[in-house]
Amino acid sequence: MNEFNDPIVNPTDKKTISELVNPQRRNILISSAVAALFAHSNVLASEKSSKALFGFKSVSYTLANDDIQVPTGYSWSVVAAWGDSINGQTKSISPDVSDSASDQEKQFGMHHDGCAFFPVKLNGSDSVKGIWVTNHEYTDDGLLHAGCMEPLTSEKVKKSQAAHGVTVSMIQKSENGQWKVVNDPLARRITANTLCTVSGPASGSSYMKTAADQKGHEVLGTLNNCANGVTPWGTYLTCEENFNGYFIKTAKPNMHEQRVGVDNKGFGYRWQEHDERFNLDKHPNEINRFGWVVEIDPKDPKSTPIKRSALGRFKHEGAALTIAKNKKVVVYMGDDQRNEYVYKFVSKKSYDSVNQSNNKDLLDNGTLYVARYDADGTGRWIALEHNRNGLTAANGFNDQAYILIHARLAADFVGATSMDRPEWIAVNPNNQDVYVTLTNNSDRGTKVSLNAANPRASNLMGHIVRWSEANGDSSSTVFKWEIYTLAGDPNSTEPHLRGNVIGDTLGSPDGLWFDKRGILWTQTDISTSTLGKGAYAQIPNNAMYASDPKTKEFRRFLIGPKGCEVTGIDMTPDMKTMFINIQHPGESPSERSNPQTPQAISNWPDKNSFTRPRSATIAIWRDDGKVVGS
Ligand code: FEO
Ligand code: CA
Ligand code: CA
Repeated sequence: MNEFNDPIVNPTDKKTISELVNPQRRNILISSAVAALFAHSNVLASEKSSKALFGFKSVSYTLANDDIQVPTGYSWSVVAAWGDSINGQTKSISPDVSDSASDQEKQFGMHHDGCAFFPVKLNGSDSVKGIWVTNHEYTDDGLLHAGCMEPLTSEKVKKSQAAHGVTVSMIQKSENGQWKVVNDPLARRITANTLCTVSGPASGSSYMKTAADQKGHEVLGTLNNCANGVTPWGTYLTCEENFNGYFIKTAKPNMHEQRVGVDNKGFGYRWQEHDERFNLDKHPNEINRFGWVVEIDPKDPKSTPIKRSALGRFKHEGAALTIAKNKKVVVYMGDDQRNEYVYKFVSKKSYDSVNQSNNKDLLDNGTLYVARYDADGTGRWIALEHNRNGLTAANGFNDQAYILIHARLAADFVGATSMDRPEWIAVNPNNQDVYVTLTNNSDRGTKVSLNAANPRASNLMGHIVRWSEANGDSSSTVFKWEIYTLAGDPNSTEPHLRGNVIGDTLGSPDGLWFDKRGILWTQTDISTSTLGKGAYAQIPNNAMYASDPKTKEFRRFLIGPKGCEVTGIDMTPDMKTMFINIQHPGESPSERSNPQTPQAISNWPDKNSFTRPRSATIAIWRDDGKVVGS
C-alpha cells in the first residue's frame, strides 16, 4: 500500500546535515573492540560467496506485460483471489459483484498482503497441505461494489469492512502442482467487525475505553492489515498499518490525533457515515484501539484475535520474530510513514520450545525499544519504558499504557532516528543480522534532514539498511549497521536516483523475507502513479528479486502484472512451493478504480473470464520438482 496522501506527521527533526558522514570514514571510526562484538555477521564484511545461493536466470523487463513472469523452468497458478470461497462451499464472487456483505464475510477479502503457510501436520513438515493465512490490507471501493460508492449505504460500508482483515483457509497441492482451497472447519474470516481482545499494559486503560466497551479490552475488528509475522508456537501476527485513514474528525485534531495523521476527510472510505465509531467527534478513543500487532491462532477457529499492546501502537508494517540466544522473544517492527522509526520488542519471559502452551502470553510482557542509528556506524536500542529515558509523568508520560498507545511521541522524546518509511524487516537465519526496507522518501533533505542511515536527498528509489546486534544476541541494546543497498540504477546521471545495486536494478523495496537457506527475497511497491514514468521509466511493473547477503547481488525472479504491488511471501517446508501475493493488479494512480472501466489497466488473473482485476495468492514451483530459487 502506498501512503495515499498522508503528509509527514512527525514534527521532530533533530538530525542535521553534519550527521551525514562518508561511509568509508564511518567504518574507520568503529573501534576494533566494538568490531569484535560483531565478528559473526555479514555487516561491514566483504566476503565472496563460495557458491551462488540461487541458480535461476533473471527475468527481463522485455517480458513485462499484464501477467506473471517467472524464470524459464518455473510455473505458477492462482491459489485464491478476492471473492473466492474460503472453503470451496460458500458462494464465490458474482461477475457483477452484487455479492452482499454477508457473502463477502465468507469469501477472500481484497488486497492480499502479508501471509503465511502453516503445515497441517503437527511435525511441521507437511508440504502438500496446510493452513493458508493472508491479510487483506484495504479495499478499492471502485471495484468492490456493483456500480459505484454512490449512494453510500450501510450495506456497502459493511461489505467494505468485510473485505478487510484476514482469511484463514485450508489449501492442498494437487497432482499437477497447482494448489487449491479445500473444505475444512478451520476456515474463517476475521474482518473489521470481528471481536478482538486487547492484552498487555494498555488493556483496560482509560485511553482504550469507549461507550461500547467500558472496560477497554474488547475491540470490534482489525483493519489495514499490512505485513505479518509468525511465531514458533504456531500463531500468526497481523499488523495494522494506516488505521488513521478510516477515521474522521471535524473538530481540530488534538496532539495525539495529529501525530498519527487524523483529519476531516480520512482516506475516503466514509465508514463514519454508517458506523459512527469511526467518527472521532463522537467516539474519541476508538482510534486508540487500532494500530496494533494482532495475534491469531489459525488452528483454533473459535479463538479470539488478540491485540498485543506491549508491542506498541503505530503504523505497523510487519513483525519479524526471532528467538535470541537467551531464549527471549524478539520482534522487529517498522512504522511505515516518512520520518518514522524502527522498533523492537524483547520479551521478559523466555521461549519454551518443549511446552508450547507456555508461550501463549509471551508477547504481553517485555520491553519496547526504538532504534537510533548513529553516524559512526553503531546504534542503540532505547527503551520506551515508564520512568526510563525521561519518559516520566513530569514530562507528560503518565504511565506505560500512555507510552505504548502514543509510541511515536515516546520515540520522538528519546531521540530515535527518523527513517525513509520503514517497511518490512527480515532476520537472516544464518547469523541473525537484521534487514529493513526503507521504501522511499521524496521529502528527505528538504522537509526532513538527512542523517547517516538515510543519506540521500529526494530519496525516490529507497534503500535497505542491515545491522548486527552485539555478540549476535538479538536481545542486545547495541548494534552495528550499514547500508546494504541503495536502490536505483548505478548508471543514472542524477545523484538522487543513482543506486549501487549489484545485479538487477530495483526501486521502492517493500516486502522482505529470508528463506531458511538465507536467500533474501525482496518485493517492490513502486507507486502506481510512478511506474514506468520519470525515475521509473525502465521499470513498468513491480517485481520480486532474490539477493545473496554475502555478495549483495539482486536477481529478478518475478515480474507482476500491470498496476500491481508484489507483497507477502512464504514457502512450504520442503521449499518446493513458494507462495506470494499479488496486490491491487490494475490499480489506478488514485488508488480507486473507475467502476465504469474496471479493467482499464489490467484484467489479471482472470483475463476475459471475469469483470474485474483481482488481488490473489499465487503458488510458484519448478517444473522439475526441485527447490525454488536454487
Ligand atoms: Fe502496507 Fe507500508 O505497506
Ligand atoms: Ca509500500
Ligand atoms: Ca508494504
